[in-house]
Amino acid sequence: MAESSGNPLRRPLADGIVPEEVVTRTENRWVKIMATMLAVMMVVIVVTGVAGALHPSSNVEVIDPLTLHLGGEFVESNLGTAIEPDGSATVRLIGEQYDFVPHCVVVPADTPVKFRLTSADVVHGFLLPDTNINTMVVPGFVAEVRTSFDQPSEYEMPCHEFCGLGHHAMWTRVSVVPKDQFTAQGPLERKRCAKQ
Ligand code: CUA
Repeated sequence: MAESSGNPLRRPLADGIVPEEVVTRTENRWVKIMATMLAVMMVVIVVTGVAGALHPSSNVEVIDPLTLHLGGEFVESNLGTAIEPDGSATVRLIGEQYDFVPHCVVVPADTPVKFRLTSADVVHGFLLPDTNINTMVVPGFVAEVRTSFDQPSEYEMPCHEFCGLGHHAMWTRVSVVPKDQFTAQGPLERKRCAKQ
């Protein structure tokens, strides 16, 4: 067989065997494509991490998803927005099929805000568009993400990890209100979902 003449890809090969050099060339091409894609993705991760403060939740903090409601940090009365002694805000939320608890939260603008989230059942997702908040909410772990909001706004966000048949109906609202308005509100108002 005159294997060296012409492009071996352009004629049928005996017994369906692909010549070794063709296999090698194809593999090398795909290795280069994959290496380029990995390099691009690494650059995207580093750029968004440095420029946009967009980090995955990196605190490895475990919690028993079966006893969230019985006591501790994620007991129902402790959910929602709390103001810390240093003036920053901590928002605690539970994701569960198919809602976030509380269903909406109010946070003050111009204030460091720390979201602490966990799941009571399966993996959910929490994302506030156009901010650096984007995290998975994994049962057994506490996800902690930090941000601060420059101005009042409303974030209506769907759960963004497929979590079952009701996934499309699972969402929460984060209302960012002026600092003085937030201070004037009582704890119950802060948990109410009425649109401002
Ligand atoms: Cu929760 Cu999708």
